[in-house]
Amino acid sequence: MASEEDISTNQKLDELCVALDERMTDDVRKVPPSVVIVAGSGLNMLPDMAEDALKLDYGELPHVGSVTVAGHGGKLVIGKVAGKKVVILGGRRHPYEGITLSQSTLLLRAVIKLFGIRVVVLSNAAGGLNPSFNLADIMIVRDHINFMFENPLTGPNDDSTGKRFPDMSQAYSPRLIALAHAAAADTGVPVREGVYIAGKGPTYETRAEMAMFRNIMGADSIGMSTVHETIAAKHARCEVLCLSVITNLLPPRDEVTHAEVMQTGKIAGERMVRLLKDFLTKL
Ligand code: HPA
Repeated sequence: MASEEDISTNQKLDELCVALDERMTDDVRKVPPSVVIVAGSGLNMLPDMAEDALKLDYGELPHVGSVTVAGHGGKLVIGKVAGKKVVILGGRRHPYEGITLSQSTLLLRAVIKLFGIRVVVLSNAAGGLNPSFNLADIMIVRDHINFMFENPLTGPNDDSTGKRFPDMSQAYSPRLIALAHAAAADTGVPVREGVYIAGKGPTYETRAEMAMFRNIMGADSIGMSTVHETIAAKHARCEVLCLSVITNLLPPRDEVTHAEVMQTGKIAGERMVRLLKDFLTKL
């Protein structure tokens, strides 16, 4: 039996799809988006890539809630980037805001469902654990470790979206990773590849945790988002690409600050836009 809470999650998804559908223009209905891009911390410039865009504030959509953290935007944009119709989610609601992983993925799942999207491009700000990384590097995520101790698919399965036990042995699409490397080569944007580990935050890590994540678990970057979105997208049979901007190097000389993370995110933003545009032309 589904609990009240789980029934309402599926109801929320349906109501959100209806609300989104009501707001679509003829242009979007004629040519629906085929790709969704989620803009991570400090990457507020990504929604500006879209031409002739339809823009909706998260606040006007039911059940989404407003983004509460500085640097996270809160706009859904649908428009053309490099000739491709895309949805850009400018800002995400994080589990550290006190919401479940399921709630945190609601808007992404609604967009995938409404438009029948099959390609999901995620981005995030991350601390660099790999000592060879430089500030503002972009790391293509090869794999992840879910250290949030929660899963967005907990509860009754939504059979109309995907199966009960989705495979995660190839969470990130080799095809999309290859295209991202090709885009990096053609644009001259320096990229790395590695494993992203996600904790729930909102604290940054202790030095002992950093050492464990790097030396024992083999993680290359760390953040507080994304893995639950990858899980939800894989459940919905999407191909997933994730790009981490390395906003700070770990362990820090001094301390990790949100201001530093935001500032490096902005610097890397221009590279990210170049890379993504080229990636989309290759898609
Ligand atoms: N740790 C966790 N999340 C982050 C970091 C970090 O160092 N940098 C950006 N997001």
